[in-house]
Formats: sequence, C-alpha cells, structure tokens
Amino acid sequence: MYSDKVMDHFKNPRNVGEIENASGVGTVGNAKCGDIMRIFLDIDENQVIRDCKFKTFGCGAAVATSSMATELVIGKTIYEALEVTNKAVMDALDGLPPVKVHCSLLAEEAIHAALWDYAEKNGIKIEGLEKPKNDIHEGEEEESEEY
Ligand code: FES
Repeated sequence: MYSDKVMDHFKNPRNVGEIENASGVGTVGNAKCGDIMRIFLDIDENQVIRDCKFKTFGCGAAVATSSMATELVIGKTIYEALEVTNKAVMDALDGLPPVKVHCSLLAEEAIHAALWDYAEKNGIKIEGLEKPKNDIHEGEEEESEEY
C-alpha cells in the first residue's frame, strides 16, 4: 500500500524537532482526524531556507510527507519553497494511497503558514502566498454537515 520511500520517511523521519528563535513558525491542523503539524523555518538574509524542522501529532502519511517536505525546502529560496506543493511532495515519495492524500496537505499548509509568519515578522509581502488556514478543511462548507 505504501511505497518504500513513504515507509522509509515514516520510520526514519528527517528533520524532526524545533528551531529556537525560528524565522517563521506555522501550525496547521486537520479537524477531521485531529492531527496537527508544526513547521519551523530558519531563513537567512538572502531569503534562503537554511534549516527546516517539524513536529507533528499525526498519522504515518503526515509524518512521511512532512519529512520529505522539509528535505525539499532546505536550501531553497522562499519563492522556490512555495512550489513545494503537496503534489510535489507526493511525487517525491512515489505517491500516496488516495485516502491519505489529504494528510500531505498538512505539510504544504504548515510551510505556507511558517512563510506567512516570517513575512509578517519582517514586514514583507511574499507574492503568491495566501493567508494560511488554521485547518486544512477551512472553507469546505459543503462537507460540514457530516460532522
Ligand atoms: Fe490525519 Fe493523516 S489521518 S493527517
């Protein structure tokens, strides 16, 4: 069901932890499963992501996608990091089962939230970055009746 890469990143997640005095921190949840993801970014004066760490209270797919996402954004500029979508992360992991695709959104949204925090702290605007959600299901009204 899971690719070898997903299993590898789940069993040996990269970049787990916190960054003290991070340039940006983003937290996003998934109210439906109760999982939470927090991403820490260390960004240098050239807007390059020097380091990225994550902490999660989440399922295996959320762990694996966040682990891969941190690897993909380290060394990138903040604009290049915006292109690290959940699809790019899933491709890098050789795919996820369809029922687990939403889990990969946590990492993408948390990175966006951390970039937003960085922009706010520095009084800059990152073109193409939208105000982050607190929950990946925010705005999906049509599904709210189920719960
Ligand atoms: Fe909640 Fe995967 S089941 S993020």
